[in-house]
Amino acid sequence: MHKSQIAIIDFGSQYTHLITRRIRQLGILALIYPPDVTAQELKGVRGIILSGGPRSVHDDTAIAYDHTLFDLGVPVLGLCYGHQLIAQHFGGTVKPGKTKEYGFAKLQFTAHNSLLTGIQNNGRVWMSHGDSVARVPKGFIVVGTTVDCSVAAMADEQRGLYGLQFHPEVAHTKDGVAMLKNFVFTICSCKKDWSLEQYWQEMVVSIKKTVGTRKVFLLVSGGVDSTVAFAVLEQVLGKKRVLGLHIDNGFMRKGESKNVAQQLAKAGFDNLNVVDASTKFLAAVEGATDPEVKRKRIGKTFLEVKDDMMKKYKLKSSDWVLGQGTIYPDTIEAGGTKHADTIKTHHNRVDEILKLMKAGAVVEPLVDLYKDEVRQIAQKLKLPAALINRHPFPGPGLGIRVLCNDEKSKSSWHHAQLAKVVGKGLQSCVLPIKSVGVQGDNRTYRNPALIGGTVSWDVLHDLSVRITNQISDVNRVVYLVAPKKVKLPSFKTKTGTLVRERLALLREVDAIVHRFIRSHHLYQDIWQFPVVLAPLTLTGGETVILRPVESQEAMTVNFYPMKPTLLSGLARKILAVPGIDAVLYDVTNKPPGTIEWE
Ligand code: XMP
Repeated sequence: MHKSQIAIIDFGSQYTHLITRRIRQLGILALIYPPDVTAQELKGVRGIILSGGPRSVHDDTAIAYDHTLFDLGVPVLGLCYGHQLIAQHFGGTVKPGKTKEYGFAKLQFTAHNSLLTGIQNNGRVWMSHGDSVARVPKGFIVVGTTVDCSVAAMADEQRGLYGLQFHPEVAHTKDGVAMLKNFVFTICSCKKDWSLEQYWQEMVVSIKKTVGTRKVFLLVSGGVDSTVAFAVLEQVLGKKRVLGLHIDNGFMRKGESKNVAQQLAKAGFDNLNVVDASTKFLAAVEGATDPEVKRKRIGKTFLEVKDDMMKKYKLKSSDWVLGQGTIYPDTIEAGGTKHADTIKTHHNRVDEILKLMKAGAVVEPLVDLYKDEVRQIAQKLKLPAALINRHPFPGPGLGIRVLCNDEKSKSSWHHAQLAKVVGKGLQSCVLPIKSVGVQGDNRTYRNPALIGGTVSWDVLHDLSVRITNQISDVNRVVYLVAPKKVKLPSFKTKTGTLVRERLALLREVDAIVHRFIRSHHLYQDIWQFPVVLAPLTLTGGETVILRPVESQEAMTVNFYPMKPTLLSGLARKILAVPGIDAVLYDVTNKPPGTIEWE
């Protein structure tokens, strides 16, 4: 068996697989191990990386691990929580941070060392942490600091021990890959031994092993993941052993189900059935307002509809395996690794699916891959570009983009600390709705801050980072695009659940937005563009929130800065839709905001 050169010990970071992937992209086989792996089992690896994680090293729940891994004599790199673990283990001190730090920071070098050799001083790094190292252990020196973090990087070159408080593995850390390169090649002396071709071969073996002599019943949304999963399964098992089902759950975009059926037929998928189950899904979410409740009910209903259809087609369940186009972020953010916090329950990770997985009745060929890798596989399979380059669309669709509220009206409010951070010349308030976020590897469900006035994207970016770092009850920042002349705070909530009328309203606005970005050639620049309907009113209608983002793999995200002239044109079109009172623009990166609001 192939022996991993770099061992990643997973303490539950949202980015553990990203570390693995970055190392593999360097041509080195990296494997993930649980924290209870013994030093004995790690013998033979050339280096160890301790991941970040949602816990504090001081918690009663701090994760146990085999401390003798430090005696193996191989280099160890700790990232975030891992950095703090190293500091704690060797006798340094870790303190809860004065301010929590999420987002960009600048790394200033303080001493020469092999990990940061060849890297530009004062480069951008990505932080997401609460605790921080206050004093380095004996033998270590501080090699990098940021404004908010005095020990952003430390090293003990003699013993081959390194710690970084920030995340070199996320695309937003400018020279992160170069730092990992220094670690694996210079410090650990690894030699290249890994490729995507090899992954493909392992995937083929694993599909054949899971499915055995059974067939696959695959749920196909028409997005890139399920389409690629469909093509991979057909290629590996043969067309006759794979049956696709597209379920119209009532949360699809305008004309989407018809489109999907046509496009897939054109691409040669001739064993796809389509069913309209919107009535059943709407009944399942009736009255639900909590995002997790909505997600779980939607996920469960997918399975019920699948079972109904199997009965209808007279298929014996023991002869079939459920196929899903699940990709890696779907599992990590649903608490898919042992110590990760559940950020959101993805529709393909509800309890009923977990039971089927335990019974060995689920096959997910793409489960270790990220979106850009899925797209590479799609290219290898020669799928049409229009299918490969589609924006991602979540399984629960518009169902998690229509925010719900069944309580009596609440008003937005002034927030003294927020006003102080925002400064003079701009208006601000806190909105009486909530959205999901991810901060320091934990789920948050908090209020957004709203900023009004004339201001550049750069200033908004800066404000957004400062607000979410400094104001603990705010996890997202939105900007008032239209109408301009509103005195804040003036938004109030109204009641609204997941009903056909509200879905139809959002579907209409979503179609306008998507037509607009296609006709202005922005589709390729934007990674994904959720459009959210919020039960926030000024004159009796509702509010639209635009959430275009730039990303590589959905784990970290920048908000997309649209040209102001284009944005005001788009806002005019949206405001012309009856029932829409206002248009807001989400200026939050991820972390601390997730892409979807729920
Ligand atoms: P978040 O909102 O967690 O989203 O930043 C990351 C990516 O995952 C998509 N997403 C889903 N995809 N089923 C899916 O197939 C789901 O339940 C689900 N929830 C979020 C989201 O659209 C983004 O691309």
